Amino acid sequence: MNLLRTIQNQFRAALVGLVPDVEPYVAMIKPTQDAKHGDYQANCAMSLAKALGKKPRDIAQDIVKRLDLSDLLEPPEIAGPGFINLRLKSTWLAKQVQAIANDDRLGVALQPAKRYVIDYSSPNVAKPLHVGHLRSTIIGDALTRLLRFLGHTVITDNHLGDWGTQFGILLYGYKNLLDNEAYKKDPVRELARVYIEVRKLIGSDDEDNAANSVADACRAETAKLHHGDPENNRLWREFMPHCLAEIHEVYEKLGILTFDHEHGESFYNPLLPGVVESLLQTKTAEPGEGGAIIVRFSDDNVALVRKRDGAFTYTTSDLATIQYRLNEFAPNAVLYVVDFRQSQHFANLFAAARRWGIAAVELTHISFGSVLNRDGRPISTRKGDGSELIDLINKAVEIGLQKYQESYAERKAQGHDVPDLTEAVQRDIAETVGIGAIKYADLCQNRTSDYKFDYDKMLATEGNTATYMQYAYARNRSILRKENIDPMTLRNNPPSVAIDTPPERALAIQLLRLEESLLAAVAEYQPSAVTAYLWDLAKTYSGFFQNCPVLRAESGALKQSRLLLCDLTARVLQKCLNLLGIKTVDRM
Ligand code: ARG
Repeated sequence: MNLLRTIQNQFRAALVGLVPDVEPYVAMIKPTQDAKHGDYQANCAMSLAKALGKKPRDIAQDIVKRLDLSDLLEPPEIAGPGFINLRLKSTWLAKQVQAIANDDRLGVALQPAKRYVIDYSSPNVAKPLHVGHLRSTIIGDALTRLLRFLGHTVITDNHLGDWGTQFGILLYGYKNLLDNEAYKKDPVRELARVYIEVRKLIGSDDEDNAANSVADACRAETAKLHHGDPENNRLWREFMPHCLAEIHEVYEKLGILTFDHEHGESFYNPLLPGVVESLLQTKTAEPGEGGAIIVRFSDDNVALVRKRDGAFTYTTSDLATIQYRLNEFAPNAVLYVVDFRQSQHFANLFAAARRWGIAAVELTHISFGSVLNRDGRPISTRKGDGSELIDLINKAVEIGLQKYQESYAERKAQGHDVPDLTEAVQRDIAETVGIGAIKYADLCQNRTSDYKFDYDKMLATEGNTATYMQYAYARNRSILRKENIDPMTLRNNPPSVAIDTPPERALAIQLLRLEESLLAAVAEYQPSAVTAYLWDLAKTYSGFFQNCPVLRAESGALKQSRLLLCDLTARVLQKCLNLLGIKTVDRM
């Protein structure tokens, strides 16, 4: 069920014959901000008038005359200079709502399937995950769920940075600073400690260019690793499972989907010489100074694909990756969820790939902004400021638990009917709430903006937060429980729906907009379209709930109808949250 498309189809038929290409005009139909102007509004008469040299109001009249209203629309109203205000018939809305109640997909159609490869999370391993990795992981996970729900095939690939200079640091640390006992007991912790110690000795965030003997020694270890030194390669194989275990622990805590593949950069290493050869052969690349090989885009924009010393680069490795993915997965699109600082890299990468002959596949960098602390500064990646991701997650859960227990005690003291919950169940709830809060706070931003990591804001019980949505869901479930209503009967055998009052009407329309919002989210790769929808839905539901008595409705039939609206709202809330990777609980 797609309200917008349904109306657009009706409109398309009315426009055919008026102009040669109707699509741009069909696309001008938008939901209205104010119910005064109907549910949807078309402003195409104004632009059509220009194209046809007629008066906008006359054109609007023409369109309205040609429009088949069927049982979908009330007679349209022409307003102002030629706006066409469209109002859906309540009887039609009621039927649609009843129909989606009986549908597991809540009326969302499967779309023509495409194949996506999505590259997200992709941390550099061998150092602890920090908050910078959060956004890619959360956004990528949400997009994967959304695309899959809409019927697409999504192949997820965690493109681990498992071959970079950080291994030189680890190798140096292992050889010089290791506490053997500690390593035996907890290799992950000990490697993390050693890593941090060596970073301190290097003393700079830029390990590639730092100038001191430790930095030199680390670079030498990396070079040995890349040149096949058996000892370093053996150690690399020994470290990797420990590095992965640490990352997977965070993923598990966050409840993100398991990756289909985790081909790190090391996986592509054997392919790199062949890639450079092919780049030269196809004249994608050219020799640069001192034996380097470059791809030249302009005089001041070149990408290195082989350094003077023969080492390959991030770009080389990413070109090999594209080629591999095309051969292996035959995707329609490859998406990279990576922060905005890599924009230039991806612009160059895609341009090089096109020149290399890679066509007919969408390549998109899904860029995002930084996570800031409460003072508005980017959270530093250095150890010691609590930016280790696992610490941030644990803290959100702790604060979630504290807030939850406060609200629980308060509700109980006020004589509200609160469920009896054991400490363990309360912990589970806190986990759901804390992690949901982190994810929602991230996803509700326009992803290209920066945002502040603020526990109080993300865990607020009022406003556009996961906590608010989770409460709305649980409260809704408790209504049905209290009345001993089995939601399955409302679903399997939906009662007829009454759309008599404005709040019921508004809620019905919101419920029917689910598909529209999911499509908007994937069209722009913007999960915030889903949170915006959730927020609208929650507000509309609250208006409905305040104005339309459910359990004390005037008649049995009306009560059934309103219960169905309640249940459907809960299902849509839950579905949207789940598509964002956020869980719900039935009691709070
Ligand atoms: N490992 C990189 C980093 O942490 C991100 C990799 C993104 N994916 C890619 N195919 N380049 O900066």
